[in-house]
Amino acid sequence: MNLILLGPPGAGKGTQAQLLQDRRGLVQLSTGDMLRAAVKAGTPVGRAADAVMKRGELVSDEIVVGIISERIDQPDCARGFILDGFPRTLAQAEALDRMLAEKKMKLDAVIEMKVDDAALVERITGRFTCGTCGAGYHDRFKPTKQPGICDNCGGREFVRRADDKAETVKSRLAAYHGQTAPLLPYYQARGRLRQVDGMADMAEVTRQIEAVLDTV
Ligand code: AP5
Repeated sequence: MNLILLGPPGAGKGTQAQLLQDRRGLVQLSTGDMLRAAVKAGTPVGRAADAVMKRGELVSDEIVVGIISERIDQPDCARGFILDGFPRTLAQAEALDRMLAEKKMKLDAVIEMKVDDAALVERITGRFTCGTCGAGYHDRFKPTKQPGICDNCGGREFVRRADDKAETVKSRLAAYHGQTAPLLPYYQARGRLRQVDGMADMAEVTRQIEAVLDTV
């Protein structure tokens, strides 16, 4: 099964993609994570993406389409994948259609996670991850069980993303509404679009996504 999780920054795409990866054996393909890894490694792609991401703008279609095309060719993707953060423009959606047709793969569902803009700022600015194992947390919605200690690995170092500042979130939301939201009618017209209430708590969002997947 191949899926797209579509929604604004902070909608919970990464949170739910990780859960689906564990529960259904699908592979999470996050272009944001791939780009952040490239920035950290100082590759040419990372050097091109770094400043753009810090401004909260979109990296070029050429770069992200290239990254995803290479990644989908890896053998683990044959068991199914979840696209998290891709496509984000109509050009990326059209490139994905071509890519899947060439590889004789299909898209089973596009799940829109609907969340109000006001809630997104709090979600994003409260997010942090374990610096050792990468487990994700939130100051209010998902704190560590013991303050300052990762539930998963016991790590004590935590990191916050460079683009999770309130002022950058505004640019990211503008990019979503201007460049990514037009994908909703694109997938609606192709009969692929389904919706879940991203404002609900995490377990309820998971339940709604599972219900969609059971019908695919
Ligand atoms: P990317 O990494 O894709 O970021 P994003 O889309 O802005 O999404 P986020 O990772 O911020 O949010 P999420 O929806 O995954 O939410 P999460 O689950 O973490 O992209 C970053 C940048 O890379 C872009 O700005 C761009 O520059 C570049 N880029 C990436 N892909 C690109 C592309 N295709 N084209 C061009 N450029 C690209 O949840 C957020 C927080 O809320 C967490 O703390 C979580 O614990 C909490 N939370 C989750 N669900 C709930 C809930 N139901 N209730 C309460 N809290 C919740």
